[in-house]
Amino acid sequence: MTKVAVLGYGTVGSGVYEVIKKNRDVISSKLGEEIEVKYVLDLREFEGDPVQEVLVHDVDTIISDPEVAIVCETMGGEHPAYEFTKRALESGKSVCTSNKELVEKHGPELLQIAKAHNCSYLFEASVGGGIPIIRPLRTSLAQEEILSITGILNGTTNYILTKMETEGLAFADVLARAQEKGYAEKNPDADVLGFDACRKIAILTSLAYGRKADFADITTEGITAITDKDFAYAKKMGATIKLFAKSVKKNGKYYALVAPFVVFPENPLYAVKGVFNAILVNSNMGGETMYYGKGAGKLATASAVVADVLDCARHKGKHLDIKWEDTKLEISPIDGAVRKFFVRSSSTDEARIKEFFGEVEMISGVADGECGFVTEEMSEAEYKDKAAKYGDILSMIRVD
Ligand code: HSE
Repeated sequence: MTKVAVLGYGTVGSGVYEVIKKNRDVISSKLGEEIEVKYVLDLREFEGDPVQEVLVHDVDTIISDPEVAIVCETMGGEHPAYEFTKRALESGKSVCTSNKELVEKHGPELLQIAKAHNCSYLFEASVGGGIPIIRPLRTSLAQEEILSITGILNGTTNYILTKMETEGLAFADVLARAQEKGYAEKNPDADVLGFDACRKIAILTSLAYGRKADFADITTEGITAITDKDFAYAKKMGATIKLFAKSVKKNGKYYALVAPFVVFPENPLYAVKGVFNAILVNSNMGGETMYYGKGAGKLATASAVVADVLDCARHKGKHLDIKWEDTKLEISPIDGAVRKFFVRSSSTDEARIKEFFGEVEMISGVADGECGFVTEEMSEAEYKDKAAKYGDILSMIRVD
């Protein structure tokens, strides 16, 4: 029997408790032993909930109990999750977490502490909720050089973009509806401005290359400027618009970006709709692999935490190594990245557009008093220079 403690009885924490209880038999038959939740830490009381029997209010009860081998940190936020995680690891207890903020900010340090104390720090649930992506990067693709990672890593924005596409609605209207239904947070900034996806691609990029990709170095654009007209153009092109979180290794340089992209049906990520997430990894030997599922939600995220618990239980007294050094991964300025650009222009003078941008594919007849065009491949720096000289730009969306 392995005994675990859960820190925080919120959405994910209560999900962990439920997964371990409901799948008790499945878990013990596959693991060869039982997993029991000995404690749940929360400041609140939960009268009438069976969790009350194992509820504690002081983290010391957990840290000082030698029977607890694994701690699930599902509190979220940086503090006190950081201090609690450190103390658990220093006392030799493995920690499994869904806390992307903590992983992104302190991953390398917490991994070092785990290594020094022969225990593990695992965080499958911190990116893509219930989708296995950390473990594939760490194990199945360990022999591969990762060339690119492209993710739809935020369910809220994918839901909003899908609704804008299918119902022809404006961004603000879909957001308001999503908030009413509880799909989007009351303060949706971290989602719609792209910061949530940015933290997640920072973690995946760090794991792919073994060094720390800083959140602050990743150019991040959200979806707030996307309009129903952009979708009308995309439809005319036979494409859609998705918020992509991307990192690419090219000619020895690393690029990372979170931004809306025009995406064509040939891309497997085109088909990822609603709150679903997916991650497409391209590696140098195996080529493309894709990981798809629920990127958020109680049981999906909790299931990923429990998968880590089983891994720790199988490797008691050992450190499961994750290469992530505390040295900076230099992210090159986005100006050097090369791609096509979809541009909306307030001038419909094709000759003038071609004079500045060269050969372009024109998209006309979508909206009055403007036109759209797709450029040939060029660097972001080149695009910016041409756009500044041309002037009559309404908007630009990168093309994948
Ligand atoms: N707010 C996130 C999303 C949930 O919409 O995907 C989990 O990171």
